[in-house]
Amino acid sequence: MLTAINHHIINLTMKKETLFVAFATQKGGMGKTAITVLTASYLHYTKGYHVAVIDCDYPQHSIVEMRKRDTELVMKDDYFKGLAYRQFSTLGIKAYPVKECTLDMAIPTAMKMTEQSEKHYDIIFFDLPGTLNTPGVIRTLAAMDYLFTPVSADRLVLESTLQYAIMLTENLIAPRKGNIKGLYLFWNMVDGREKTPLYGAYEKAIAELDVSILKTFLPDSKRFRKEVSDERKTVFRSTLFPVDKMLLKGSHIAELVNEICQILHLDSNGK
Ligand SMILES: Nc1ncnc2c1ncn2[C@@H]1O[C@H](COP(=O)(O)OP(=O)(O)OP(=O)(O)O)[C@@H](O)[C@H]1O
Ligand SMILES: [Mg+2]
Repeated sequence: MLTAINHHIINLTMKKETLFVAFATQKGGMGKTAITVLTASYLHYTKGYHVAVIDCDYPQHSIVEMRKRDTELVMKDDYFKGLAYRQFSTLGIKAYPVKECTLDMAIPTAMKMTEQSEKHYDIIFFDLPGTLNTPGVIRTLAAMDYLFTPVSADRLVLESTLQYAIMLTENLIAPRKGNIKGLYLFWNMVDGREKTPLYGAYEKAIAELDVSILKTFLPDSKRFRKEVSDERKTVFRSTLFPVDKMLLKGSHIAELVNEICQILHLDSNGK
């Protein structure tokens, strides 16, 4: 693994002001894609930052597919057509780009976007494949500025996630091979309103391993599984619209984004 890492580290001396961020974990189904979309949409549509998303999680390309579904809904439903018109024409907020590409092309695509686009991007989010065995995944992870890792309070999930965090810390972050300035775990799918004492015990173990964990946790909530549809006129997980104010309450998305903004040294009041 180490030699693979050494061989694959790209030259990251290029200066860039756009932050590269990924919700990354080796464990499947932890909420990487859903949280990428919720965070990107909140920062872009609610806070006014300019974001882009690069979806290189082959073969699902879940965010690209989500954007297609969101766009089709706007085309066929008058309510969402009106909402889109108001947002794009009246308020002047355009949709953020969602680019599909192969893992190898993720960083070149992002670099091209930062260098050639007339618009400045504050953040580019990457939805990457989970497994570190995918060729090129370590090299791409090394090019991120920050990594945020969703984890659930399941012993096996936590153990493998900690192994993942320690592997990246020891091989990329501590020896400064790449751009990563920080890796932060955070709890997702927390059952109930409050964290149980079990979380405290886990957090103690996490701290002993020198792994950082965010204060904000995301609750287990049905709204995370729902997409916008023509029956429901409230928006939660969408690539085209901000989260509905009622659904935002209790989702902890605003709190998560604020904590991430602090780490990224971005003004949490927005642009
Ligand atoms: N806090 C939450 N509460 C309830 N459901 C959630 C929560 N976070 C994510 N989910 C749901 O869990 C499922 C898996 O999430 P998602 O697809 O985002 O995970 P992923 O890490 O991208 O998975 P994959 O490994 O397949 O790429 C989705 O149906 C998503 O809506
Ligand atoms: Mg996914």
